[in-house]
Amino acid sequence: MSIDTKERYGKITRIFHWGMAFLVLWQFLKFFDRIGDGEHWVGETLVSWHVSIGSLLLLLVILRLIWAFKQKDNRPEHDPAVATLARAGHRLLYTLLILMPISGMLYVLGNGYSVSPFGIELFTGSGTETAWMLTVGSLHSPLAWALLVMVIGHIGMALVHHFVKKDGVLQRML
Ligand code: HEM
Ligand code: HEM
Repeated sequence: MSIDTKERYGKITRIFHWGMAFLVLWQFLKFFDRIGDGEHWVGETLVSWHVSIGSLLLLLVILRLIWAFKQKDNRPEHDPAVATLARAGHRLLYTLLILMPISGMLYVLGNGYSVSPFGIELFTGSGTETAWMLTVGSLHSPLAWALLVMVIGHIGMALVHHFVKKDGVLQRML
């Protein structure tokens, strides 16, 4: 089924979730640029897609939020004991998924460069530094660490549901 039900997430939600999870993990490879200034196999192949994949993720998160909003009345419910925490955790993940590409773009633009995902010039660089853009853009790295912590916690919780609580929460996203 493509739409969500009270029992499980539908095909569209699952494609969004796992497709974006894959792309976000790919984006984390940018941390490897800290080794040898990115002059190694990871830096020169997978990481060279960073701006393109990051921009694609911004489009995907907007579409995903619209979809989630449309499905809000027919989605699986959270265990009432942890519902507030689970909801807050998911909202924070979504917030970071929006802030990451925006701060990344501002970092690039703030340095005067254009943002050209997949070779398409989305925003033209000014050629000079822009202080406020650099200030917001400098949040990109701390936000990346925050997202990494959130994702590790999120995966940990999914595994606790599956192996400890055995309540089927993981299955409804599979
Ligand atoms: C969800 C989307 C994104 C994620 C998860 C992400 C993640 C990351 C990570 C993990 C780093 C390494 C940070 C560090 O070593 O401290 C990084 C750096 C960077 N990202 Fe992103 N990023 C995303 C989107 C973007 C976008 C859309 C752009 C630009 C249009 C961008 C531009 C950059 C740049 C220029 C750096 C290097 C910053 C520096 O040298 O200090 N990122 N990103
Ligand atoms: C970068 C990686 C990931 C991101 C950004 C992410 C993000 C999210 C978000 C935002 C939701 C809330 C969905 C909604 O209500 O609309 C969610 C749900 C979920 N995720 Fe992830 N996820 C990631 C990786 C994973 C992994 C690796 C697993 C499994 C080990 C997983 C398991 C789940 C499960 C089971 C749910 C449903 C939770 C529930 O219904 O209470 N996620 N994920």
